[in-house]
Amino acid sequence: MSQTIAILPGDGIGPEIVAEAKKVLHALKSAGLTIELDEALVGGAAIDATGKPLPDDTLALAKAADAVLLGAVGGPKWEPLDIAIRPEKGLLGLRAGLNLFANLRPAILYPELANASTLKADVVADLDILIVRELTGGIYFGQPRGIRTNGKGEQEGFNTLIYSESEIERIARVGFESAQKRQKRLCSIDKANVLEATEFWRNVVTRVGKDYPEVELSHMYVDNAAMQLVRNPKQFDVMVTTNMFGDILSDLASMLTGSIGMLPSASLDANNKGMYEPIHGSAPDIAGQNKANPLATILSVAMMLRYSLNQAKFADLIEAAVKQVLANGLRTSDIQESGQKTVSTVEMGDAVVVALQASL
Ligand code: IPM
Ligand code: MG
Repeated sequence: MSQTIAILPGDGIGPEIVAEAKKVLHALKSAGLTIELDEALVGGAAIDATGKPLPDDTLALAKAADAVLLGAVGGPKWEPLDIAIRPEKGLLGLRAGLNLFANLRPAILYPELANASTLKADVVADLDILIVRELTGGIYFGQPRGIRTNGKGEQEGFNTLIYSESEIERIARVGFESAQKRQKRLCSIDKANVLEATEFWRNVVTRVGKDYPEVELSHMYVDNAAMQLVRNPKQFDVMVTTNMFGDILSDLASMLTGSIGMLPSASLDANNKGMYEPIHGSAPDIAGQNKANPLATILSVAMMLRYSLNQAKFADLIEAAVKQVLANGLRTSDIQESGQKTVSTVEMGDAVVVALQASL
């Protein structure tokens, strides 16, 4: 039976990078993968067409699909809008609407890109860490929230950081289970010295850890974790953390690997249904210029095949094709080093497809 993939290109560079990922999917389809692609609007593109960042049709398509591929959302054009109807709400609405509470953000350094990192090559050589970010709770979703006039007649902005025990427990289990499949070390990141919500987080993670005696659990405050990630990132195997801390630390971790343009992500529900997207944003400054790096999106397709579509063999082939083009010296401008050939978005996508087809 054919599996359906909902394709949501979004804004900025989103349509350009998703177009390259689609070429990869079509190549696999020609090689026998039974998939159907369905496309819909999200983010600013959806606001322009329908007035809403997440039209009902888009959410329905995403719910009905076996997996979702998303480009990126947002841009300066929509920044003047009320926060409740901005493009980013489309993305948050998809995450919440599909119960995608577990966000897996691997930061892997390809040996070919060792010199593209701003850190010394020996600090990042062979880096392979996984950030498990809680994605449907915490301060990004907590109520109450808003901007109001307080009792003194002054305006104030407020948000709520709140985590229930079950929300912490289920993401902790994803962290422990991910660690079990890797080096069996899990570091939980919090700010338990200041925030009660994350003191509670630490207590729950510690309790859940008793079910995983073979995993070595440690805890670290988020400020220290940010420092340790640039000081000695290889001390980490799997990190599990809240929505906001994971948002920040995963951007930081991406630069260890040379470019945020390289990192894919998977956002999963309890049954491994998922949405797959590059961790970078819509990069409006380079949108429409055929300059963006499509590799994070192409690698997101590999994660989709592995986690949601049960096609690990094709996932391996995509990852091998990406390694091949990097080894061949192809670089988009974000990972440019002297002596390498700078290629466009389309050239990079085409090169991956050629390498992939050679292995199919
Ligand atoms: C991310 C992005 C999003 C987030 C934005 C675009 C809402 O930064 O996926 O990391 O904050 O989660
Ligand atoms: Mg982010």
